Amino acid sequence: MRIDIQKIDPAQAKPIPTEGFGFGKIFTNHMLTRHYSGADGWMNPQIEPYGPIPMELSLASLHYAQEIFEGTKAYRRPDGAVNLFRIQENIKRFNRSAERLAMPTMDEEEHLDCIVTLMNLDEAWVPAAPKSSLYIRPTMISSEATIGKMSGSEFLFFILLSPVDPYFATGFKPISVFVEDEFVRAVRGGVGDAKTGGNYAASVFATKKAIKAGYKQVVWLDAIERRYVEEMGGMNICFVYGDQIVTPPLNGTILPGVTRESILHLGRDLGYQVAEEMIDINDLMADIKAGKVTEAFACGTAAVIAPIGQFGYKGEQAVVNDNQVGQVTKHLYDELTGIQYGRIADRFGWTLKIDGVN
Ligand SMILES: Cc1ncc(COP(=O)(O)O)c(C=O)c1O
Repeated sequence: MRIDIQKIDPAQAKPIPTEGFGFGKIFTNHMLTRHYSGADGWMNPQIEPYGPIPMELSLASLHYAQEIFEGTKAYRRPDGAVNLFRIQENIKRFNRSAERLAMPTMDEEEHLDCIVTLMNLDEAWVPAAPKSSLYIRPTMISSEATIGKMSGSEFLFFILLSPVDPYFATGFKPISVFVEDEFVRAVRGGVGDAKTGGNYAASVFATKKAIKAGYKQVVWLDAIERRYVEEMGGMNICFVYGDQIVTPPLNGTILPGVTRESILHLGRDLGYQVAEEMIDINDLMADIKAGKVTEAFACGTAAVIAPIGQFGYKGEQAVVNDNQVGQVTKHLYDELTGIQYGRIADRFGWTLKIDGVN
């Protein structure tokens, strides 16, 4: 595989911002695209200046949502180099999502080469501001111009890079969440464990409802019994009972988060007990009120760890840890972000250091 690179004309290049990124609104000077056709397979990728592309509005993905994506980040280290975090896990998940959505998979090394080459070109866009990072968004869409069938034999893979602030503008402070007991995110046998746009579109209505009611996010329950806790918004969810960290098991409806898996691993390493167990919402509300649940947090690439201070369910409120960030949550957050940003030695081999040289 050869990656063709067309660098931006320096006169057209955008100045690199150093603060005030928000989340997912600003994009770097370059993007990578790679076409696939049923007859020829994957073509060589191309890197070119970031910008709009001409396309027909009949693209199958626009109508039938055959689309997958990934989300990972690059972190500026104290020594000036850049860390990618568990990037192989995102690449593997991308291929699992591709299989589930009946799309072509990509050789893992080639996918990594695409990310690293683009990253090296726009390396200067990785912010140095505390808690900021460069979000990496590999995506694939069905790109055949047809509304006559749900999928064609043409696909477009692309990667965008976006400097971002922490996901929650409120920072590392507990959020209040609404436990949704009417609408559901995913059902067993569906696509809940694939990272595909439809899952997010399906969650917008309930999320708006929760925000209108004064909450920050939705906690999803299982679709069959509306009883077992699954995820929170676009993040996995964990509860702390003393020195035990508990999260729901991966049963096909939950996205297997890279951050979730890292927290389970790190938690064990730091001496906590770790369990993957079904969590009944009624037991959970009772355990929070009785003080048995000492902390709660959500975890995912965008926010890394988001402490949860309050749950609203069927008109009842339950406050966790007096709406304060708990010790275990803070410990995990400091350790995990320490490894991601290269402030703490990476004893797990999770980071890949890149130096901006192509
Ligand atoms: C639905 C959903 N659950 C969980 C996660 C957390 O996954 P990760 O830790 O890999 O970012 C995400 C974010 O990618 C998500 O969209």
